[in-house]
Amino acid sequence: MKRVLSGMQPSGQLTLGNYIGALKNFVALQHTHDCYFMAVDLHAITVPQDPAALREQSEAVVALYIAAGIDPAKSTVFLQSHVRQHAELGWMLTTLTYMGELERMTQFKDKAAGKDSVGAGLFTYPSLMAADILLYNADLVPVGDDQKQHLELTRDLAQRFNQRYGDTFTVPEGYFPKVGARIMSLDDASKKMSKSSANQGSFIAMLDTPDVIRKKISRAVTDSGREVRFDPQNKPEVSNLISIYAQCSDKTIAEIEAQYEGLGYGPFKKELAEQVVAVLEPVQQRYQEIRKSGELYDILRQGADKASQQAEKVLTQVKERMGFIVL
Ligand code: TYM
Repeated sequence: MKRVLSGMQPSGQLTLGNYIGALKNFVALQHTHDCYFMAVDLHAITVPQDPAALREQSEAVVALYIAAGIDPAKSTVFLQSHVRQHAELGWMLTTLTYMGELERMTQFKDKAAGKDSVGAGLFTYPSLMAADILLYNADLVPVGDDQKQHLELTRDLAQRFNQRYGDTFTVPEGYFPKVGARIMSLDDASKKMSKSSANQGSFIAMLDTPDVIRKKISRAVTDSGREVRFDPQNKPEVSNLISIYAQCSDKTIAEIEAQYEGLGYGPFKKELAEQVVAVLEPVQQRYQEIRKSGELYDILRQGADKASQQAEKVLTQVKERMGFIVL
């Protein structure tokens, strides 16, 4: 069975972008793959985090995974910091990564822009992400478009290691949604929808109440026309909303365009909001049940055990190949 690994940062509330770009695919892949899904808390601390908020958000990410349909009996669900091998392999891969490669990362450039001082961890972040993936010899990595560059580096590092030390790592492939691999902000279609945005109206959080979702969608920026047409070049805002609609309704883009022909943006946005609510409301109900049930830490303990065993096998092999003394 092919192996899947992916993760999300507990650095804020998960958004509809996280759901469409990645989480929806996590749920789909678990039926046919051996899956590892984690909350990447070590990555989250590459920017300052309030300790209490980090703890809460880590729990929230894992609870949302399960509420969205990840079955912990099928998939291994864990926190990155619970599996020490991530930090260890992350360091080893940092020594194989070139400064120039890290300097080219657009996510680093975006996050560092305009800051007086930038933590070194933000810079070496992609080497740790490569360790996350290579530690499990993952074949497939379901992510949104914004992770393409990091994944490319992961592939390069796997190949570099294999060439230098002998065949060790599987070279992973990305797995992207056909529609909605980059969900854009509701207030500015040139920026991706992001959980760390200061403007709450720019994103839909997976835990937003139905009324908040309706309000945010009704206020979403559109062009001054009235045609519901998928044309990312000339109508980026409406095209973004159509992508969200398609992913939340399982209708094709062509079907959505046909359905709203001549009707204008009003009815389209209204129905879009209902589609989003219909997807998120049941997830929110399950989320509340999971948070109340107290089962989360048991799931995390089991996940950490299973992931650690797997990770240790690969790390031992890596250490032997690199010339460390393994006792
Ligand atoms: P993060 O936490 O920023 O996002 C989690 C996942 O959600 C996707 N995503 C989006 N997809 C579509 N539209 C959007 N607006 C949108 N925003 C976020 C991301 O592409 C991602 O798949 N570096 C990763 C976390 C990570 C990881 C890993 C992922 C660490 N190690 C190993 C895969 C494998 C990140 O910051 O994702």
